[in-house]
Amino acid sequence: MVNEIIKEALHPYPADLVLVTKVGARRGDDASWIPDLSPNALRAQVHDNLEHLGLEVLDVVNLRSMAHEGHSEESIAESFTALAELQQQGLIKHLGLSSVTIPQIREAQAIAPIVTIQNLYNLVNRDDDDVVEYAAENNIAFASFFPLGGFTPLQSETLAKVAARLDATPQQVALAWLLQRSATSVVIPGTSSLAHLRENIAARDLVLPADAVTELDSIGA
Ligand SMILES: NC(=O)c1ccc[n+]([C@@H]2O[C@H](COP(=O)([O-])OP(=O)(O)OC[C@H]3O[C@@H](n4cnc5c(N)ncnc54)[C@H](OP(=O)(O)O)[C@@H]3O)[C@@H](O)[C@H]2O)c1
Repeated sequence: MVNEIIKEALHPYPADLVLVTKVGARRGDDASWIPDLSPNALRAQVHDNLEHLGLEVLDVVNLRSMAHEGHSEESIAESFTALAELQQQGLIKHLGLSSVTIPQIREAQAIAPIVTIQNLYNLVNRDDDDVVEYAAENNIAFASFFPLGGFTPLQSETLAKVAARLDATPQQVALAWLLQRSATSVVIPGTSSLAHLRENIAARDLVLPADAVTELDSIGA
């Protein structure tokens, strides 16, 4: 459904657009996410994405491990190998990972290069500080999902105070903090509002002074 909306809105795709797709789970009848990382399922999901996006090759495919709850170290080798084979067949340009630990990232890198990691990370949820650092050291884009807290919107007096001082919204400051967090940090805030979209894009130009960064760092410390 989402891919059909993307296709309707953006096809034919501009040359500088990079579509990042995620495989490794399917929706249950109750709209829940059911992990499905078997090679057959992954192959089917890649072909499904190609068909519904109207593409012959996918720019970036993330393997979603869904193992971040409890930081499970389960192997993703068999699943990632299936995606690497699809890449060798020319159906995928670049590979990425989502909801993964550093051992899982290393395991995948031994199979094929990865260009992006998409994990839960924001001002308050900083369990993956080590993954952010690892991504920067290895020149891998780190995309924070739930950058604004997702279903639990970020709430912090410190954030509100810093935002008021900088004449920005708390959400803009939260995004600016993420963007300055590392050399390879990128953000993917979701919004259904054009006004919020414009504010979020403007956060790119918000420069946080050092004292503001120190205060903001204390929120998730
Ligand atoms: N890899 C994974 O496993 C995984 C898991 C979850 C999510 N994701 C991805 O992560 C991305 C972000 O997730 P998300 O949208 O659920 O969480 P989010 O970006 O942290 O938060 C979105 C919420 O923030 C609000 N918001 C956005 N901009 C705002 C602004 N400028 N001012 C005030 N409120 C603002 C939105 O409301 P309005 O609509 O009113 O703006 C929405 O309620 C999505 O692309 C999603 O697909 C990936």
